[in-house]
Amino acid sequence: MNPLTMERRAFMKWVGVNAIAASLPVALTACVKSSADVSEKAETSKPQASKPIRSDGFIDVGSMGNLSESGSFRYQMANGNSILVVRQLEDTTKIQVFSSVCTHRGCNVGWQINDQDIFCACHGSRFSASGEVTTGPAESPLQTYAAKVEGDRILVKLT
Ligand code: FES
Repeated sequence: MNPLTMERRAFMKWVGVNAIAASLPVALTACVKSSADVSEKAETSKPQASKPIRSDGFIDVGSMGNLSESGSFRYQMANGNSILVVRQLEDTTKIQVFSSVCTHRGCNVGWQINDQDIFCACHGSRFSASGEVTTGPAESPLQTYAAKVEGDRILVKLT
């Protein structure tokens, strides 16, 4: 076999192995970062309306019929954030709206019908039906939004 050909083959093998080795840390970092972002963290920036904002500043996020048996639903914003719409306990014709972003480290919270509170599964924080912290590690209440019901429609003001 021609020695020049062998050298080229050895060089190409060396370049191929080193190119793969050099790209592994970048690929692994991208995989780890994207899976953590999706599984645990909610976006922490301010919610943005995905529907037109009315002249009074409210947006229509759904109907009372969207409230499941649990009395709540989550509404996804255009930026990926979401709000938690909960039927009021004392007057089921009214609703309350919270940011679904936990004030501890930003996971999504959810309404717990059996406990009548809002729970964050990441580290166990609990919030009352008015958004106040009842069990840490969260220290701050959930952000609330002005909301009202017109006919069957649920309207939320995000500012
Ligand atoms: Fe909610 Fe930690 S992120 S309790």
